[in-house]
Amino acid sequence: MNRKTVYLETFGCQMNELDSQLVMGELRRLGYDESSDPERADILLYNTCSVRDNAEQKVRSRLGELRIRKESDPDIVVAVLGCMAERDGADMLKRFPVVDVLCGPAELDKLPALLDNAARTGSGAQIALQGDASRRSATLAAAQDSLEMLDLSRAVSPHDHDGSAYVRITRGCNKFCTYCVVPHTRGAEIHRPPDHIVDECKRLADAGVVEVTLLGQTVNHYRYEHGAAITLGGIEQPQKGRSYQGGHRRDPFAGTTTTTFADLLKRIHDEVPAIQRLRFVTSYPRDFGDDVLEVIRDSPRICRYLHIPAQSGSDAVLKRMNRGYTVAEYLDFIDRARAFLDQPEIGRPLMLAGDIIAGFCGETEEDHNATRALLERAQYKNCFIFKYSPRPGTTAYDRLPDDVPEDVKRRRCNDLLALQQSISDTISRAQIGRTLEVFVQGVSQRERKRQKASAGGSIALTVGGRPANETRVVEKPTESIQMTGRTEGDLIVVFDCPADASPAELIGRTLPIRIDSASTLTMSGTLASRSAAY
Ligand code: 5AD
Ligand code: SF4
Repeated sequence: MNRKTVYLETFGCQMNELDSQLVMGELRRLGYDESSDPERADILLYNTCSVRDNAEQKVRSRLGELRIRKESDPDIVVAVLGCMAERDGADMLKRFPVVDVLCGPAELDKLPALLDNAARTGSGAQIALQGDASRRSATLAAAQDSLEMLDLSRAVSPHDHDGSAYVRITRGCNKFCTYCVVPHTRGAEIHRPPDHIVDECKRLADAGVVEVTLLGQTVNHYRYEHGAAITLGGIEQPQKGRSYQGGHRRDPFAGTTTTTFADLLKRIHDEVPAIQRLRFVTSYPRDFGDDVLEVIRDSPRICRYLHIPAQSGSDAVLKRMNRGYTVAEYLDFIDRARAFLDQPEIGRPLMLAGDIIAGFCGETEEDHNATRALLERAQYKNCFIFKYSPRPGTTAYDRLPDDVPEDVKRRRCNDLLALQQSISDTISRAQIGRTLEVFVQGVSQRERKRQKASAGGSIALTVGGRPANETRVVEKPTESIQMTGRTEGDLIVVFDCPADASPAELIGRTLPIRIDSASTLTMSGTLASRSAAY
């Protein structure tokens, strides 16, 4: 019998991408193949995002399109996963009879078996798996037990990645920013046991992963109290978030009965040296201790990169958003981060990324100008800027009028995007003349196209697991080969492989590149020395 195939489309954040990879891994183990063609797949999965309405609209239009397909092919199984499944629940089942299975983010561990069953039996009944956030926090350990298993049982083979992988450290969020649906869909903040995280990093490194991005909604709140550990089924359980809220001082329990975020970073850095690049997203602008900044500063393989959303440059707006900090406190933090981490003279400038919401409830022109001023001051390398989108179930939706007209929201959003574009350009140009540490990932896209056109040359393509299969090494390159890599701050750099070197010997190393020119997206430079910085 032919193996059944699964089409999986992911919307939204990196957390969803990781969830999708884990679900797909489990389905592969159950004997399914992945398909990139929704027209032919037996199971169609949509891992959805509810953060903004337009992400939800896209999913609704996909489901609308599926009606005809399902009529002609009633045996296909359609499943909606993620935040929309949690938020939209019963409503969605009514509106879209094509949907067979709904599965919220906290129930994903049960999904593969359920899908397998639906695909085999074609029972025809709609099934909804949703978690209830209050129940989850009351019986936390038990509810999280099986979900933790999904991360723990992650199958990593050298073919499953391109050298880079996500590792979850925290689920959920306790912040309840008034505009945000995440605490409602993903539930309370829960920290994974540090041993599980370090083991996962080791297994990924063994499979050839060289770059790990730690994931959490508020990663710097990571805190695991060992005395409080609960063991179920022989496995230490994730723990409800009790973050240290002592400003930028040190957590007094650090390194003793508690694993703090600083301790966790140091453990991964020191215990898994094969990971060349360790980064983490997303940071919360409060409760970011000097201890974390010191660990980043003193650990060569931790990236000088912080994604630290401000959301607005106006105190009045931040207050309505329930962000818990002022603009001055935010700016203090980024100054502190720069004082610790910004070292362009050794090729390690600190790069910051941000998020901004334009046109939040009650935002005036003055507030908007304050956000402009914040962008100028923060000098983000890039910033995700979106119009405010009211989300049912959030405090802002219930209590604050969405009173900025759509055209004003759009204008402010575009205005901020244009400003950020010019800041990003300036930051790129500021790199000219600097020698930056670049992690060499492979030959550039331009080079691939050239190779394809001439179809003759054979070269080592990229670092990491999957492409390694395709690795073929140049014997005698006739002309220089353009290589590509990224700085730890995520700037893309291209440079020519020297005539007496082969691409294969440069790939996977971190090398100093002197930047000669810069465009918005790419910098171009020259290899300054063949000896790796670390
Ligand atoms: N409208 C617009 N943007 C939002 N974000 C979260 N909720 C909303 C909303 N209701 C943005 C924030 C957050 C990012 C993940 O998405 O900037 O940092
Ligand atoms: Fe949403 Fe705020 Fe939590 Fe970020 S910190 S996920 S914006 S509630």
